[in-house]
Amino acid sequence: TRVLVLNGPNLGRLGVREPDVYGALSYADLVEAGARWGSELGLDVEVRQTDDEAQMVGWIHEAVDTRSDVVINPAAFTHYSYALRDAAAQVTKSGLRLVEVHISNPYAREEFRHTSVVGGVATGTVAGFGFESYHLALRALAV
Ligand code: DQA
Repeated sequence: TRVLVLNGPNLGRLGVREPDVYGALSYADLVEAGARWGSELGLDVEVRQTDDEAQMVGWIHEAVDTRSDVVINPAAFTHYSYALRDAAAQVTKSGLRLVEVHISNPYAREEFRHTSVVGGVATGTVAGFGFESYHLALRALAV
């Protein structure tokens, strides 16, 4: 199974960005862990990051066109991007799976983070387990 692991804005700053919230590991560490988990689980995993909404929408379209499942941390787009929601809906409506992940637990944070416009069209959501959220999402896709 091919899986695109897509990361939204500011996640390229992991390790530097608010380590009290997101931990000390870097985005490069996430890319490395993704490759390791992929080979352990027998998944063909590719990890990407963008700060650009249009780029992210394009990658989701690519997942549909290449019949790939998606693990996505939409970051701040989670809370307001209907464009991303509409793209994500195409994934799940076409019989592919899309898992929404978060490093932190958005429900334990500011009010504006309590809404996910993506969650309603996702196959499922994993939040609050640090980088392990991605591992759990990949495990769900491996079964
Ligand atoms: C996040 C949570 C979002 O609220 C935030 O905007 C992020 C990261 C997380 O992984 O915990 O950028 O998606």
